[in-house]
Amino acid sequence: MFRQENYDLSAHNTFRMKVRCACFIEYESLEELLSLDLSALPQPVKHIGEGSNLLFTGDFPGTILHSNIEFIKYVDMGFDEVPVMVGAGVHFDDLVAQTCRHGLWGLENLSLIPGEAGAAVVQNIGAYGVEIGDLVSGVVCYDTLERKKVRFSTAECAYAYRDSFFKHQNDRYIVTSVLLRLSRAYKPTLTYKGISERFAGRTDLTPMEVREAIIAIRRDKLPDPDLIGSAGSFFKNPVIDTLCFSSLIDRARARLGPDVQIPHYLLPGGFVKVPAAWLIDSLGLKGAREGGAGLYEKQPLVMVNSDGNASPGDILALESRIVSEVADNWGITLYPEVEHLPGVQA
Ligand code: EPU
Repeated sequence: MFRQENYDLSAHNTFRMKVRCACFIEYESLEELLSLDLSALPQPVKHIGEGSNLLFTGDFPGTILHSNIEFIKYVDMGFDEVPVMVGAGVHFDDLVAQTCRHGLWGLENLSLIPGEAGAAVVQNIGAYGVEIGDLVSGVVCYDTLERKKVRFSTAECAYAYRDSFFKHQNDRYIVTSVLLRLSRAYKPTLTYKGISERFAGRTDLTPMEVREAIIAIRRDKLPDPDLIGSAGSFFKNPVIDTLCFSSLIDRARARLGPDVQIPHYLLPGGFVKVPAAWLIDSLGLKGAREGGAGLYEKQPLVMVNSDGNASPGDILALESRIVSEVADNWGITLYPEVEHLPGVQA
């Protein structure tokens, strides 16, 4: 087990905020986790993955926990469905690469998403028509309140768009491993426009071929995490009712002309999902800056640490500017996708 006080978190958040925490602990096994008296550590205690969906709003006053539980086990009994058990600390894209190499369908559309398996099932990560919740058979956690191991079925995880049961439990549960169901039978998901066009008419794809296409799309649209700090999409795509959508159409016609087309997806129950990227882009906010924080030119939903020196204050200033401009002009409230952790300004 690794433990250090007053620890530099720069390498533990993909936004590359130069912040510290009072205490940092990295454990290697469930036994090591169970041996910790969490109540005796500097508070609050927060468990992170790779910090790829987090904003530290300043120095973190408590303890940051990180799992190094890394294993991938296949329960291959010759059926089409192949259960795969994964340790929470596994780098998610290593898992995707390995399962694609084994010819298993399921995770290929989630290629290149930064982060770790444990955080992926809390956040219900999704891309190109697939969400990890669609593939989860169960999640094993450490219950920090009862101090015991607990299991959650798919239904108990209550998956929804970028949401799960775990996100509403005040960090009570720490994910230690995940059970996924992948498929040996041919099962590509080709609903995303760029993918369906590329593979039109094909019935002989491999998971690796789809993975490579997804990687090419992501490399083209999204910043390279090795070169530029970000936390992926900063805001969720808002889901609005039809009344609100009609009012958006009126506002858009008045502002952008009568022929404006608003991209949108119809959802059950009369709801409409509108891409936050469009709401931002249509206000000319691509590339908007506040200090070192900026909106990425190719995908304005992604906020970036433009010069490597953005402070949490710069990110928060840009966030509130975008939220206000979208609310004032489109009458829609954007909510962050990125989790904001409490911080003390240095
Ligand atoms: N758009 C613009 N201008 C732009 C870019 C996009 O108007 O510069 C509009 C277009 O109409 C486009 C639409 O926004 O069709 C959607 O854009 P995109 O396909 O890039 O997806 P997104 O809705 O912005 C979501 C996820 C991404 C995921 C992609 C692909 C959220 C918050 N984000 O983005 O996830 O990779 O779909 O499936 O749901 C992440 O969560 O960090 C992330 C990157």
